[in-house]
Amino acid sequence: MSAATQPVLTAGGNTPPAPVHVGIIMDGNGRWAAARGVPRALGHKAGAEATRRVVEAAAGQGVSWLTLFAFSSENWRRPADEVRDLTGLMRHYLRHEVRQLVENGVRLRVIGDRTAFGPGMLAEIRRAEAETAGNTRLNLNVALSYGGRAEITAAARRLALRAAAGEIAPEAIDEAALAGELETAEMPDPDLIIRTSGEKRISNFLLWQAAYAELVFQPVLWPDYGAEHLREAITEFHRRDRRFGARNG
Ligand code: FPP
Repeated sequence: MSAATQPVLTAGGNTPPAPVHVGIIMDGNGRWAAARGVPRALGHKAGAEATRRVVEAAAGQGVSWLTLFAFSSENWRRPADEVRDLTGLMRHYLRHEVRQLVENGVRLRVIGDRTAFGPGMLAEIRRAEAETAGNTRLNLNVALSYGGRAEITAAARRLALRAAAGEIAPEAIDEAALAGELETAEMPDPDLIIRTSGEKRISNFLLWQAAYAELVFQPVLWPDYGAEHLREAITEFHRRDRRFGARNG
């Protein structure tokens, strides 16, 4: 969707509607483990459990789209054993969570460069996407080997190829055309982006799509995140005055 996404309208009654699309930069697994003197792998395992809780909480709190930054294109630079732990954990999640996702009406999609993973992981991704394809309560995007700049670059390259092939005039390339080539083409832009662990950076997450997102930074480390933290972030979102570049009054 283009940067001209319309503001969320407040419905009648006392409870304002939940943000349609929430993105989360799940951060702090390593510090959680260090604080307990346990291996980082245990921090990631506890992070995966938090992921499960938050997917259920998001659906229960009326969120329609949830995008989780699980593995960035830069995370490949971590030590090989940590990359192995993380990919193993994600593969395990994809394999064992599908039944729960189906029960909760969650449709799972993966965004990012899935070809960077091996055939086993690719097969798990395809299976999880296919088995949850009919669900409509919550759309869950898991960003794996994802980077916003890489996504925008790939979209620009596709447009250039289409222009070179005479399929689109260069003058017809506008924001909508570029947005239409992103992996999120048919999805609403995020209204709210949360980062945990107190870091205040966007770290290459949904760079194009986050143009008008409200940013909420919470000190809690990801493995400790739960329904109440999501509720707090949504309450903070409701306090914000979203103008989309315009003026109120
Ligand atoms: C940041 O913590 C977190 C990650 C790099 C990976 C996120 C992965 C999970 C929550 C687990 C698996 C995901 C799914 C979808 C099952 P960090 O290691 O950067 O922590 P630190 O900044 O404290 O070192």
